Amino acid sequence: MLMPELATDQATGLRRLVAPRPVRVIAVTGGKGGVGKTNVSVNLAVAMAELGRQVMLLDADLGLANVDVVLGLHPASDLSHVMRGERELAEIVMEGPAGLRIVPGASGIREMAALTPAEHAGLIRAFSDLGGDLDALIVDTAAGISDTVISFTRAAHEVVVVVCDEPASLTDAYAIIKLLHRDHGHSRFRVLANMVQSTQEGHDLYNKLCRVTDRYLDVMLGFLGSVPHDEFLRKAVRSQRPVVQAYPRSRVAQSFRNLARKIDAWPLPEGANGQLQFFVERLIQYSTEFGGAGT
Ligand SMILES: Nc1ncnc2c1ncn2[C@@H]1O[C@H](COP(=O)(O)OP(=O)(O)O)[C@@H](O)[C@H]1O
Ligand SMILES: [Mg+2]
Repeated sequence: MLMPELATDQATGLRRLVAPRPVRVIAVTGGKGGVGKTNVSVNLAVAMAELGRQVMLLDADLGLANVDVVLGLHPASDLSHVMRGERELAEIVMEGPAGLRIVPGASGIREMAALTPAEHAGLIRAFSDLGGDLDALIVDTAAGISDTVISFTRAAHEVVVVVCDEPASLTDAYAIIKLLHRDHGHSRFRVLANMVQSTQEGHDLYNKLCRVTDRYLDVMLGFLGSVPHDEFLRKAVRSQRPVVQAYPRSRVAQSFRNLARKIDAWPLPEGANGQLQFFVERLIQYSTEFGGAGT
């Protein structure tokens, strides 16, 4: 007969084998355009992949080509083809640096609301199959607080709010935090200060945002860290490569690697919430409830 503790160990081991592994879904948002959301998403995703994690990056920005431009990819099809049943999700996923997987979202996201229940189920299944060996899904959102941005952000476990030292960036960050809190019950956010001239500037920006949220909202803001303003990032963008790979020794690349290690140490989401299927279900639920994920 098995010792009781041995039996427990085996049961835990078995559950781990059978249960899908938890996936961190991280939405990168911030309200304002041009604060660095796409570059933050791409470089954090590559840096996490370089740590040996299985990472997928979902380009949820409509209209403007984003992740594909920064990485020099030319997607032939996107999520809209999957939704119309013309492609399997696995067929549209592109391989990026360090084994990173990229889902070109593009116009597919706009069509989320028009799906039949069978199509919903198909999409959830497609994502669940794909998510089997994933550790993290990073979602790069568009500027503004459109329904699309909100639906992706509210479905994520972790919300990274990118800010930079411009009044419009702070007011937009505040607006999105307020909306997610008031209408969707999100109360925890991680602030990333981008394009800072010094680490002090990063802390100052975070403190400024905290002063306003502490006064008017019941939310918790954590400081993820800051990313310096660095010409190497612009050079990398021009050569369509992530700066963590194009200029790995630059200050900006080092800070992305530090932040990726920090994220990797966050506690994993637990239970059903921690599965990719949960994210897609929540995403679709919002799109239908609120009459569309269109902008
Ligand atoms: N850390 C940084 N250092 C220097 N320039 C930056 C940095 N982050 C962003 N930029 C500049 O800002 C531009 C816009 O960044 P992007 O990631 O596309 O912003 P968003 O997705 O928020 O619109 C980049 O092309 C780059 O020129
Ligand atoms: Mg962008």
